[in-house]
Amino acid sequence: ERKPLIAGNWKMNNNHLEAIALVQKLAFALDAADYDRAEVVVLPPFTDLRSVQTLVDGDKLSIGYGAQDISRHEKGAYTGEVSGPMLAKLGCSYVLAGHSERREYHAEDDALVNAKVKAAFAHAITPILCVGEGLEVRKASNHVAHTAEQVRKAVDGLTAEQVERLVVAYEPVWAIGTGEVATPDDAQEVCGAAVRSTLADLYDEATAARTRVLYGGSVKPDNIAGIMDMADIDGALVGGASLKADDFAKLVRLG
Ligand code: 13P
Repeated sequence: ERKPLIAGNWKMNNNHLEAIALVQKLAFALDAADYDRAEVVVLPPFTDLRSVQTLVDGDKLSIGYGAQDISRHEKGAYTGEVSGPMLAKLGCSYVLAGHSERREYHAEDDALVNAKVKAAFAHAITPILCVGEGLEVRKASNHVAHTAEQVRKAVDGLTAEQVERLVVAYEPVWAIGTGEVATPDDAQEVCGAAVRSTLADLYDEATAARTRVLYGGSVKPDNIAGIMDMADIDGALVGGASLKADDFAKLVRLG
């Protein structure tokens, strides 16, 4: 009942012309059976969103899209920020919250991530909450407790209905952009014991059973199948491999 979600986080890549070309190639590479198998979503930079919207609407593409960040504020004197209402107006269905690169380079803490998750829900945008441990935490075998704590803080104050719609992406920081993918068992351990179990504790089993949990970190066509076979993994959040239409289409097909 949890439809797989394959989401491409483009990070800071592709201007709006490149964005149009990539989405066109992706649309060409995917067919109806692919969209039946999985929900396909791209997360381009803010400056690309209008172009992607125009293409998706004009050609009635089944590709969803969203943003990589959202302001916790609704409007006002917040130079450089982009609000939930702006993203909703552009047709964004998803937004990342708490990506490790935002946590690390922009000092986003769990309280801010929680506020961004709430800002997304306030405008009917589905947050993709990113959690996951760094290498030191992994080496100390604290990855489950660490990630569970991030989940607990990020969902504080959400209703059960919101948690059912929430997407959580487990992205171990040591596996991002390094080519070092977590083993399927390692990914399952955290997606199950840290993410879904925590939601079941805070809400209930039925609610937690509806939340989609993704794995992210060096997902490629040759490793996605083993990861997606795991009981608590419902999709992938893909960085590098989402920048090539053929690879991304393969991920949709193999995942
Ligand atoms: P890579 O797939 O490039 O490792 O990036 C993962 C990621 O951070 C997606 O959000």
